[in-house]
Amino acid sequence: MVGGEVEPPFFIGRDEIVEKIKLDITTSAQNNVIIGPRRIGKSSLLKNLKKSVQKEVVFTSVNCRQITDYADFFRLTTNALIKAHEEKSKIKGISQKFSYIFKGKISAATRSITEIGGSIEHIGNVYLRFREDEIGDQELMAETFEFIEQFADEVQYPIVIAFDEFQELSKFRDNIFNLLKSHMDKQPRVRYIFSGSSISLLHEVFLTPDSPLYLMAARIQLDPIKKDDVNKYIRSRLAIEDIEISDKALDKIYEYTDGFPFYFQKLGFILYQMAVLEKRNFIDDKQVDSAFSSMLNEFDSEFEFRYSSKFSRQQQDILKNLSKQKTRRISEIARDMDTPAYSLTTSMKDLYNTMTVRKTKKGTYGIVDNVFRIWIKKNILADVN
Ligand SMILES: Nc1ncnc2c1ncn2[C@@H]1O[C@H](COP(=O)(O)OP(=O)(O)OP(=O)(O)O)[C@@H](O)[C@H]1O
Ligand SMILES: [Mg+2]
Repeated sequence: MVGGEVEPPFFIGRDEIVEKIKLDITTSAQNNVIIGPRRIGKSSLLKNLKKSVQKEVVFTSVNCRQITDYADFFRLTTNALIKAHEEKSKIKGISQKFSYIFKGKISAATRSITEIGGSIEHIGNVYLRFREDEIGDQELMAETFEFIEQFADEVQYPIVIAFDEFQELSKFRDNIFNLLKSHMDKQPRVRYIFSGSSISLLHEVFLTPDSPLYLMAARIQLDPIKKDDVNKYIRSRLAIEDIEISDKALDKIYEYTDGFPFYFQKLGFILYQMAVLEKRNFIDDKQVDSAFSSMLNEFDSEFEFRYSSKFSRQQQDILKNLSKQKTRRISEIARDMDTPAYSLTTSMKDLYNTMTVRKTKKGTYGIVDNVFRIWIKKNILADVN
């Protein structure tokens, strides 16, 4: 199953982390920041987390990628919260009535939310005043958090708000983090989960002493899926279609994908497809090689775009030299680039902060996304040499 948020039986290898966060949520112990590179399975984790705590809490997910301004922030957060409440309490029609404030005539909207009453009526009226330009962005934002707090008092359940891709919230910088802080302190029945792929923002927001949210959330690193889990999964999925796969082939899949769920799902699917078309019921390591190159072809334009538009010249050079092996020393890269190692510091730091490059325990560096690394090696490095 490739793309989108996956659920069992396609969701594997995250039992431990789900249990851990579940415990934090159900005891209201602490807020969490989930940090992981692109395609490691953050959104899927949130979705499955939601399922596992739904009995105990109102779990609300907000995808911050869809937020471009304050009104979006308001709309997505309040809508998601009210919808999650509706699902859980089985009181129908609230979100429908609430939605009038976004599109209907002011008078009709006012009537509609009066029928709901309570904190929803209040926040609905706030938004209508915003629509009429009677209040501004900042006030709308402050009221949004105020509403979450009030709402938690009204409903019987604790509330969890998960901001996926939270790095996107940094456009509201000073304001949003200050607001979050004051509300996190006041309302123990509301817990927040932040999930994203920017280490620098994580540090800036949660680990810098003068940041309002300093140490307000526990950090959870989302790692690749373990090899045993991946192997078992691929073998059992193929077995359903009566296709066998050799140990060597499984080793190779893991070596290429490094346990990144998006990639092993994709590669597994291409292998399955090839087997069916060629009327084979066995997959060997040779086939993994050819499936892998067709996967690389498929990602060609995406990788091309990523490489040429997301990195500076020097960063591109570093990536090119890093792509030679899974991990390398900075001194080797500097030598290859004919430059002193210290001149690479700033670029390396940026690459690390965006989770493009990781540091190993041995002090070497490697490109986080191994498929991207192999693409660079084949397409950029090979061109030059
Ligand atoms: N636990 C898992 N087990 C198996 N496959 C998974 C798992 N998590 C994710 N995947 C696979 O990876 C794909 C991407 O997952 P998801 O969208 O959750 O990742 P993400 O980290 O949110 O990605 P992005 O950075 O693009 O937002 C899924 O469509 C699925 O194919
Ligand atoms: Mg995601």
